Amino acid sequence: MKKRIFSGVQPTGNLHLGNYLGAIKNFVELNNDNNNDCIFCVVDLHAITVKQDPKELRDNIRETVATFIACGINPEKSIIFNQSSVSAHSEAAWLLSCVARMGWLNRMTQFKEKAGKDKEKVSVGLYSYPILMAADILLYEATHVPVGEDQKQHLELCRDIAQKFNNDYFAGDFFKVPEPLIQKEFSRIMSLKDGTKKMSKSELSDLSRINLTDDENLIINKIKKAKTDSLPIPSNSKELEMRPEAKNLLGIYSSLTNLSIDESVKEFSGKNFSQFKEKLSQVLVEKINPISDKIKKLNNDKEYLDRILLNGQKKANEFATNKLKKMQEIIGFL
Ligand code: TYM
Repeated sequence: MKKRIFSGVQPTGNLHLGNYLGAIKNFVELNNDNNNDCIFCVVDLHAITVKQDPKELRDNIRETVATFIACGINPEKSIIFNQSSVSAHSEAAWLLSCVARMGWLNRMTQFKEKAGKDKEKVSVGLYSYPILMAADILLYEATHVPVGEDQKQHLELCRDIAQKFNNDYFAGDFFKVPEPLIQKEFSRIMSLKDGTKKMSKSELSDLSRINLTDDENLIINKIKKAKTDSLPIPSNSKELEMRPEAKNLLGIYSSLTNLSIDESVKEFSGKNFSQFKEKLSQVLVEKINPISDKIKKLNNDKEYLDRILLNGQKKANEFATNKLKKMQEIIGFL
């Protein structure tokens, strides 16, 4: 049985090292395996849960496609499309919002973090966003969903929604209950300025993240300025537990070099951070530079990017519309 892989990335600009190491790197590996059918979605409907500039949004949708390809996703071997081009996503999200419970959504930590103290002023979309995410996944009968650690709770909600729909409508296993694919290690890359906070597009300071479009000088400078502590690198990884910045930087190094954290700690044990940072910058530049060059090149070829999206839209639309129709029949619409 082939696995059906589905995942999405918001086109909100500045795709960063967290997106790459937590998710996109995994997309590429899954896409290279012929036992998988892969669908990668640019989730523009999710992006507008916070205000977007229309021109920037259009550019960012294309740049997200460019980033997928620059990172190694093969558009011939996968479906790449933007969410808003398949209207079944919005329709299914409404149907599922009548299945999902308020109590479930009230538990979502990402909403609490994003809304902060301003809960009354954020959009309703930001609150119901995990239901749209469930619609994305369930419409394609995805069996596996590769994501970073921050999306784990949303995937659990998706599983609950699928099961409740199946039960409420005596629909057997109409919705497949998807499995999350979250890497055991390095599935949560932290800010370069604060090792207790997730690396994120929405963080104000650009120094907090490595963007996939950063050039060599920027990368070297950001790593130089990355927060550390005053102790040398320890002799074993247990000692990193109370040192979030050191743990994060060594985690980034390990993920990029495919080493375990213990192997990385051993390599740099007793050395100071300036020595380690030099090596980390070098590894980062080697990895990010070719990606960043390719993104810039592809960004100039709008026609190619639009062609990929249009191809993807045709295939995704057929699939999603079929599933939506069946949902409507099960619910009892004429
Ligand atoms: P988004 O756009 O915030 O992030 C895209 C992917 O990158 C991962 N990620 C990280 N991983 C590790 N460390 C970090 N600091 C980090 N920051 C981001 C995310 O976990 C994600 O895998 N709601 C989703 C998009 C979505 C989706 C879906 C995903 C919409 N529909 C259906 C899977 C299936 C989001 O906002 O991801």
